[in-house]
Amino acid sequence: MNRSREMPQCGTAPYRLRSVLRAPWLWKFSDGPNIAIPFAQVPFHEPVALNSSQEYHAMTFLKSPPATPDAVADEYAATISGSSLPKYRIPEASSDRRAVFDLVRDELFMDGNSRQNVATFCTTYADDEVRRLMDLSIDKNMIDKDEYPQTAEIEMRCVHMLADLWHATKSWKTTGCSTTGSSEACMLGGLALKWQWKKRREAQGKPTDKPNFVCGPVQVCWAKFARYFDVEMRQVPLSGDATGLRPEDLARYCDENTIGVVATLGITFTCVYEPVKALAGALDALQANVGLDIPIHVDAASGGFVAPFIQPDLEWDFSVPRVKSINASGHKYGLAPLGVGWVVWRSTQDLPDELIFRVDYLGGDMPTFALNFSRPAGQIIAQYYMLLRLGREGYRHIQQECADTAQALADGLAKIDELEMIYDGRGALPAVCYKLKHPETAGFTLFDLSDQVRMRGWQIASYKLPAGREETIVQRVLIRRGVTRDMAAMLLEDIRHAVAHLTKNPVPHSTAGPTFHHD
Ligand SMILES: Cc1ncc(COP(=O)(O)O)c(C=O)c1O
Repeated sequence: MNRSREMPQCGTAPYRLRSVLRAPWLWKFSDGPNIAIPFAQVPFHEPVALNSSQEYHAMTFLKSPPATPDAVADEYAATISGSSLPKYRIPEASSDRRAVFDLVRDELFMDGNSRQNVATFCTTYADDEVRRLMDLSIDKNMIDKDEYPQTAEIEMRCVHMLADLWHATKSWKTTGCSTTGSSEACMLGGLALKWQWKKRREAQGKPTDKPNFVCGPVQVCWAKFARYFDVEMRQVPLSGDATGLRPEDLARYCDENTIGVVATLGITFTCVYEPVKALAGALDALQANVGLDIPIHVDAASGGFVAPFIQPDLEWDFSVPRVKSINASGHKYGLAPLGVGWVVWRSTQDLPDELIFRVDYLGGDMPTFALNFSRPAGQIIAQYYMLLRLGREGYRHIQQECADTAQALADGLAKIDELEMIYDGRGALPAVCYKLKHPETAGFTLFDLSDQVRMRGWQIASYKLPAGREETIVQRVLIRRGVTRDMAAMLLEDIRHAVAHLTKNPVPHSTAGPTFHHD
């Protein structure tokens, strides 16, 4: 009898043997030709001697282990892989973690490639150290300030560093907090303005039921603030070639019910800055003329981490006395990972005490001013890392590199006959904004152009300008850390080809439309 043929084969071993085969290191061969017994059943003092034939077979087993449920298991042959993933009901059965991981990861292939998303202001590149810090803090809730006092300390360090960056006097005494992003930060800034105004009005015995704020083309978070907190939004429509709020507009729109003026440093739609100092000057004149003392909140969602580094002479921050609060997105040009924003007040007097809640059930007397409660701490810690790691020098280099890339892209785009630049990357955010020179006769829209370059993986935002210029469709490209000069050159080439293609192949019945939401 050929003994080797009688040895258990992969996947064919009788059940009794299979369980033994799972642990080949526990085997001892008996003298019989085809019986293996586990070491566990051998008295431990008994030496295990193998003859040469047994050794040969033992080696054979060790070299090609027999089948086990684990060995034959394959992510793509697991039960859960055999049908489309559940969408409406939690499945009854548990599944193998690796199989589910692969399946969920594979779903994500349908998403775009974030590095080619030039529609977003948000961070799409992370240092390995940021990933490690995020991982280390995955279990930390930033609201538990008593349990994680060092995280709370780090949050305040960031606030004071930003207050200093934005020229607050006695920056170490200013107040502020982290948020989930600029939207929450804007709402907190708006709420503080509303409460300050309300207190002033009540002290004068005047009604407080019709608050308003005045702004130019703001991001949607301000429309949310208006609706959620019952404040009228007086958005000054754009006229002529204007891209934002103009100082001369203010006197017409402000009145005694104006809680504040919102100026945007880096308008979402065109990326240009509103002239904060000139707006403050117009409000100074208003105060001199009619006695209205109206504060400014600067929504510096993007510009707050750009202007101080590459436009250091621009006066837009706490150096302008009328500016009472500023917000910025850590997760945009602050270069922190997604999920962190900041709001800072000029001084503690500018944040009404009534808005601060004190909670004691987490183990201490903790002040909180936020729309959320529990929130991950990792983004705050990663922001602190970025501030330390890059320093002012690093931020300056990165933002300048982005601005140079944006300008090079703008120069290339300006040479495409069909396009007309609105913002060429000079003087404000590292970005470009343009429109079709002759939209009526072009034979295609910018939405078609967005669709066309999407085939190469690029996501470019196309949308209407806000109230007053809604007939103008523009396209905007944001250059952030990680959008390299080489990528911008490839993008330019792809836009050039797409425009040439669409010019030769007009889209008379185009159904392409906006799919983009500003973030
Ligand atoms: C000027 C401005 N403010 C606020 C926001 C909202 O910021 P976040 O996405 O961080 O909530 C944005 C987003 O693009 C913005 O551009």
